[in-house]
Amino acid sequence: MRIVIFASGSGSNAELLFRWAAETHDFSVQAVFCNRAEAGVLSRCSNWGIPSVVFDKNQMEQGGLQEQLMEFKPDLIVLAGFLWKFPSPLLEAMQGKVINLHPALLPNYGGKGMYGMHVHRAVCASTDTHSGITIHWVNPAYDEGTFLLQCSCPIPASRNPEELAHAIQGLEHYWLPRAVAFLAKAGLE
Ligand code: GAR
Repeated sequence: MRIVIFASGSGSNAELLFRWAAETHDFSVQAVFCNRAEAGVLSRCSNWGIPSVVFDKNQMEQGGLQEQLMEFKPDLIVLAGFLWKFPSPLLEAMQGKVINLHPALLPNYGGKGMYGMHVHRAVCASTDTHSGITIHWVNPAYDEGTFLLQCSCPIPASRNPEELAHAIQGLEHYWLPRAVAFLAKAGLE
């Protein structure tokens, strides 16, 4: 199974997908598409020899990305810390084969503006006892598609957002490569 990753930030999850692919050959990472020229994920791509494509909002909104994306012949797109809404025309071109990683238990703490530390601060300010991660199929609405996997952890007693972020990152790093490998083995393509 050929995957293309969309990412906006540091890319720690993308890198774990690179490593899993190199060690197991369960799937291959064809490219990373990134909307921020200064994002850390781009140096991780150079280190691993993974092609990267940097794009801006105009290219994404005016359909300029589709041709470039399809050249990589992806079977699955993985949004790993991609902070813009995924465009509907690309979703249609991929026949819905797009998954997103979210650092909370959707449907709570999702939607526009709910990413990274914003999520963890909101969770720690609540009376919730648990947080977690959601990996879901992308549909045209923000953070609303069918769940592929959800898994939870207790919120640290300190209710410190950084501590929670650390626990959530551990869940993401464990489960994201396994979820993608599961789809590959299930013969998604
Ligand atoms: C991850 O925690 C991911 O769940 C989150 O961005 C982080 C990216 O980390 N995504 C969202 O908040 C999407 N709404 P990384 O760049 O180190 O992989």
